[in-house]
Amino acid sequence: MLEGKNVNLRIREKEDLPLIAEWFNNPEFWGAFFSPLQRSRLEMKKAQDNNPFEFESFIIEKKDGTKIGLISYFNMLHPMGKLLEIGFTLVPNERRKGYCTEAAKIMVDYLFLSKEIVCIQALTDIGNVASQKVLENVGFKKEGVIRKRFFTRGEWREIWFHSILREEWKEPKILKN
Ligand SMILES: CC(C)(COP(=O)(O)OP(=O)(O)OC[C@H]1O[C@@H](n2cnc3c(N)ncnc32)[C@H](O)[C@@H]1OP(=O)(O)O)[C@@H](O)C(=O)NCCC(=O)NCCS
Repeated sequence: MLEGKNVNLRIREKEDLPLIAEWFNNPEFWGAFFSPLQRSRLEMKKAQDNNPFEFESFIIEKKDGTKIGLISYFNMLHPMGKLLEIGFTLVPNERRKGYCTEAAKIMVDYLFLSKEIVCIQALTDIGNVASQKVLENVGFKKEGVIRKRFFTRGEWREIWFHSILREEWKEPKILKN
């Protein structure tokens, strides 16, 4: 368990699959910047078991153990590079309370402390201000816009590309001990 002040990150276990499937199949969980994808538990398990890339998810939990979201890291886009990408989502009624900013800080500490990577990157729809603010709170910088790369809700959308370099992170912000 990775412990913060208001949230903890707990590595996903197979027992979490029903809850994750429920979240995954609820369009409100993904919000306005993702397509309303649907996937059966069987398909989700197969995708997880057969994924050739590094991919790990953590459940974001409040201090009382309530499960409020997911944060993941993966290297699907750059399997040969020394970098990882992160993504995160919170249940709608727990948004705007600072939980995702804290979860992302914990994740960035964890990845720079435990993986030999040069940088961590994240992609957000250009309209996804909340997600961009989370990243900038954590120290990510905007690198630029990727044009028409993701098909979302019926159209090809533009994407902000953010990253944080190891030298910009400097030291752990939350996982100090
Ligand atoms: C993006 C998301 C994870 C942010 O989580 P969160 O816990 O609400 O974020 P925080 O509370 O840490 O807020 C971070 C900042 O964004 C701001 N913010 C949050 N929601 C916002 C919104 N809908 N519009 C504008 N700003 C918003 C907060 O006020 C805060 O600003 P501050 O740093 O100036 O104080 C959440 O909105 C979500 O799950 N959205 C749907 C899924 C999604 O888009 N995931 C990201 C994919 S890249």
